[in-house]
Amino acid sequence: MAGFLNSSIGKKFLMSLSGLFLILFLAVHATLNSLLLVGPEAYNEAANFMATNPLIRVMEPILALGFIIHILYALIIEFYNLGKAGPVGYKMAVRRHQSTWSSRNMIWLGLIILTFLVIHLANFFWKVKFGGAPEIEVNGKSMHDTYKLVTSLFESNLWIDILYLIGAIALGLHLHHAVWSAFQTLGWSNDKWRKIWNVIGDIYAIVIAMIFGLIPLYFYFFH
Ligand code: HEM
Repeated sequence: MAGFLNSSIGKKFLMSLSGLFLILFLAVHATLNSLLLVGPEAYNEAANFMATNPLIRVMEPILALGFIIHILYALIIEFYNLGKAGPVGYKMAVRRHQSTWSSRNMIWLGLIILTFLVIHLANFFWKVKFGGAPEIEVNGKSMHDTYKLVTSLFESNLWIDILYLIGAIALGLHLHHAVWSAFQTLGWSNDKWRKIWNVIGDIYAIVIAMIFGLIPLYFYFFH
C-alpha cells in the first residue's frame, strides 16, 4: 500500500480522490452561498445549521485533510516533474500541443486559489469560529449573523470583490481540467466517457465560478 501511494500513479490517485471530494464540498458550499440571494433568514438558518450540526462538524477535519492531501501531493508531483524535465523531446512537444492552457497551468491556478482561500478563511471562517462575527436573535435563539458578516464586506469593499472574482475565475479554469482528469486517473473513463466528463466538468466549472465570482459583485453594485 505504502509502495503504491509513493508511486507516481499512486500520488495522482490520491490527488484525484481528494480533488473529487473537494469538488463535492464546492457544490455544497456554492448551494449554501446561493441562499445569500434569497435573504438573511434563509442564509443564516442554513449557515448556523452547518456550523452546529454534529455530523457536519465531524466533516470539518476531514475537509481540512482533503485540502492538505490535495495541495501537498500537487507540490510533490510538481517538484518531481521539474526534477525530471530534460530537453523538450518530441513526445513532450506533442503533449504540449494537445494539452490545454488550464492543464499546463494547474499548479499556478492552484496557488492562486490557495492564496484566495487563506484570505477567504480570515474574512469569514476565522471570525465565525474565533470571534468577530455579529450575533442575531431568531425566534428567541441566538446565532451568528453570517449574512451580515458576508454582505457588509462585499457591499463595502470593491477590492475584496475583485479578489473573489479572480479566485472564482482561477477556480473555474482549474475545474475545467480537473473534473475529467480525476475520472481519467481513477479509471472511470474511456473515449466516450472522456467527452461526457469534459462537458459535465465544463458546465460544473462555469456554474461554480459564476456563483462564487458574481455574488460579491451583486452585493456591491445592486444591494
Ligand atoms: C461568494 C463566494 C464565497 C462566500 C460568500 C463564502 C462564504 C463562506 C463563509 C461565510 C464561511 C464560514 C462558514 C462558517 O464557518 O460558518 C466559509 C468557509 C469556507 N469557505 Fe467559503 N465562501 C465563498 C467562496 C469560497 C471558495 C471559492 C472556496 C474554495 C476555493 C471556499 C472555501 C471555503 C472553506 C474551505 C471554508 C471553511 C469550511 C467551512 O466553514 O465550510 N469558499 N465560506
